[in-house]
Amino acid sequence: MAESQTIGVFGAGWVGLVTGGCFAELGHEVIVRDVVPDRIAALQAGRMPFHEPDLPDVLARNRERIRYTLDAGDLADADALFVCVQTPPTYSGDADLSFVWSALDDLPRVDRRQVLVMKSTVPVGTGEKVRAALEARGLTNVGYVSNPEFLAEGHAVRDFLAPDRIVIGAFADEDGAGVEALYSRIAAPVVRTDVASAEMIKLAANAFLMTRISFINEIANVCEAVGADVVEVAQGVGLDHRLGPHFLRAGIGYGGSCFPKDSLALKQLASNSGYHFQLLAAVIEVNELQKRRVIQKLQKHLGRLRGKKVALLGLAFKAGTDDMREAPSLVLASRLLAEGAEVRAWDPVARPGELMKGAVLSDSVLEAVTGADAAVIVTEWDELRGLASAEVRDAMTRPLIIDGRNLLDPEETRRAGFAYEGIGRQSSAFESLPETPEPSERVSG
Ligand SMILES: NC(=O)c1ccc[n+]([C@@H]2O[C@H](COP(=O)([O-])OP(=O)(O)OC[C@H]3O[C@@H](n4cnc5c(N)ncnc54)[C@H](O)[C@@H]3O)[C@@H](O)[C@H]2O)c1
Repeated sequence: MAESQTIGVFGAGWVGLVTGGCFAELGHEVIVRDVVPDRIAALQAGRMPFHEPDLPDVLARNRERIRYTLDAGDLADADALFVCVQTPPTYSGDADLSFVWSALDDLPRVDRRQVLVMKSTVPVGTGEKVRAALEARGLTNVGYVSNPEFLAEGHAVRDFLAPDRIVIGAFADEDGAGVEALYSRIAAPVVRTDVASAEMIKLAANAFLMTRISFINEIANVCEAVGADVVEVAQGVGLDHRLGPHFLRAGIGYGGSCFPKDSLALKQLASNSGYHFQLLAAVIEVNELQKRRVIQKLQKHLGRLRGKKVALLGLAFKAGTDDMREAPSLVLASRLLAEGAEVRAWDPVARPGELMKGAVLSDSVLEAVTGADAAVIVTEWDELRGLASAEVRDAMTRPLIIDGRNLLDPEETRRAGFAYEGIGRQSSAFESLPETPEPSERVSG
């Protein structure tokens, strides 16, 4: 393929818009197609449909090279067609490929060669199925390449333009080479492989990252039992060059649009082939339990949670995004509400709406913690680093912080007059804290 190509993108979500914007930044012409009229209208008017740092700048800077459309026919001009549609879990836990198939149904019929490039995360074997479907439809001019995406929300543009590697799995060498050429201005190792292996690289990489998270979370839980500090432990472990420091941060578990669904999809993929992926099953279970341990910590300090006011600080599944998909805050809010607690919720950008029905959304951290019996740091927003202030302490009914991301310094927080409990670290002596009375015991007036 020549230097500057025309790139079609199915899907104007996180992956689709970052892919489109970054390929435009690399000098290609881009056509982004979505099926949601409001989304396309917003993009045409220069408005972002979600929060992702740097993406608005990239899209604005390359406005001349990017078109947004509802009409799949406009993709006829494209040399490569990137599929970036969602692949959510089905009821059975397998990946739902219906959006991928709908993109396939919409493929424009052209006389020249086009390459369909799968960026969505799909089960191993999808490429084979798509190739068979293309052949059955007489679309022999359309090649197929698996090019999984590894970007992380919050720094997606950086991840796309400076990736650790570019994985390209192709049936035909020339198609793989064509896709590699699209990235020629990016200096990163390129892994050229077969389609099934490329599909598996994405699933295995995510599963490994999740394994590290659940592993360090279990170490944290043991640290709590035996009096060690997981932050110190992770630092000491991570300096081993065979292990490295990444994804060794203990917390309240992973969430988001990828890890939960991709782990389930890989587990089901293995099960469907008759293999019980025990390690992954444990990783998933540990993650579920980890979110719920926050409730136990609150109960340990507050007793029954009925009528207690709990501030959930940070709602997005991680800092830097407004994405609420599979956010641990949703599990915490619903568990707290089920226990009869009052939930105040704050986030700088995420607006959970109906997803967090029953919780009261606050405009500021101070508003959320005023009168609260506990504040829980759920997402590691920088804005929360200063939480242990005199103003917050005085506003709370009980100055109790459960730090679900080990964001604060335990000693400083205690010195500032808070009872503090992180994850995998020593907790404060809470005996000195008075229990707030149950609502029925409160004297009115
Ligand atoms: N979000 C991430 O951090 C991330 C990272 C790596 C990989 N992925 C994978 O990439 C894929 C996309 O994820 P996402 O987060 O961008 O999803 P998303 O839900 O944000 O966006 C998907 C978009 O595709 C659109 N769409 C659906 N059917 C379409 C069609 N036929 N034609 C055109 N557009 C269509 C939807 O309207 C939506 O706007 C998923 O498989 C995901 O697992 C996501």
